[in-house]
Amino acid sequence: MSKLLEVKDLKVSFHTYAGEVQSVRGVSFNLDKGETLAIVGESGCGKTITSKSIMRLIPTPPGEIKEGSQIIFEGKDILKMDNKELRKLRGESISMIFQDPMTSLNPTMKIGKQIAESLIIHRGMDKKEALEESVKILKLVNIPNAEKRINQYPHEFSGGMRQRAMIAIALACNPKILIADEPTTALDVTIQAQIMDLIKSLQDKIGMGVILITHDLGVVASVATKIQVMYAGKIIERGFTEEIFSNPKHPYTWALLQSVPRLETEHKNELYSIKGTPPDLLKPPAGCPFASRCEYCMEICKEQMPEVSKITDNHSVHCWLQHPLAPKVNMPESLGGAF
Ligand SMILES: Nc1ncnc2c1ncn2[C@@H]1O[C@H](COP(=O)(O)OP(=O)(O)O)[C@@H](O)[C@H]1O
Ligand SMILES: [Mg+2]
Repeated sequence: MSKLLEVKDLKVSFHTYAGEVQSVRGVSFNLDKGETLAIVGESGCGKTITSKSIMRLIPTPPGEIKEGSQIIFEGKDILKMDNKELRKLRGESISMIFQDPMTSLNPTMKIGKQIAESLIIHRGMDKKEALEESVKILKLVNIPNAEKRINQYPHEFSGGMRQRAMIAIALACNPKILIADEPTTALDVTIQAQIMDLIKSLQDKIGMGVILITHDLGVVASVATKIQVMYAGKIIERGFTEEIFSNPKHPYTWALLQSVPRLETEHKNELYSIKGTPPDLLKPPAGCPFASRCEYCMEICKEQMPEVSKITDNHSVHCWLQHPLAPKVNMPESLGGAF
């Protein structure tokens, strides 16, 4: 597989009156061509800031991307690009979609025109070509009656349809990478599954790389090639999707997996929820950031951040339980064989 994007030691802080909020604390990963990478973690762990950094959408100040961070796309460091290169990057190479389509859709402009504009600007089409192509793209994202729909406004679309329309706009420039930040969080479960299927089928057809951001591990099970679990600005476990579901190693990953709704769970309130709160990123702890919430916490966990432990070639974790001298701990029984 060829590397499409390489994020190396990304560190992002925000300077506030209370001090420096360390939102992203040394994140590294690769995205290969044609794969879907899921970044999973609770709210506030740095998922959006990581993806906005890739698009160079962090306002500086108050934000600061720290010296030494690198985001390499096609051999160039995005963090060193000038405005002209960035415009090209955002218009032609990397597209991002957000949780709330209304933040990206223009309420006063017909859907067809919104897609066509991008085609005219970035792919040099004339108006007629662009409108024809808009219909094709709407069909690609499974919008019925596309010929009629191009003449409608966003408020005439349902929530799921708006999300599809936003994906259509994102696809209009033929991106090499699509970043989807919680694209289904606001949608009901059935529509969620449809949007995930859509992303998967588009990826099969177009072969783009996808970064899928979510707080819900369940949503990505069938779509993601690999998963990385983020906590308090760091990646604490990563691996191919099958390995993360069948052989998770970090107690935080266990907790996330236990929070995934299953068919046999009838009531939402029966769901496991993780006790406690993530650490304050103004003063991140010296040890493992999950220590204060971890059932298996040992003395060393509070003192030192664990180094990476390799489980297989493609699966690694930062957890002191992997140390040869650590007590043997099994994953919770409720997870054994359940996935
Ligand atoms: N403009 C900002 N000023 C101060 N802190 C911020 C700002 N934006 C984000 N943060 C902090 O950075 C951390 C990561 O945020 P974010 O990436 O949005 O989390 P996620 O997308 O995982 O929910 C959070 O603790 C958040 O409070
Ligand atoms: Mg977010």
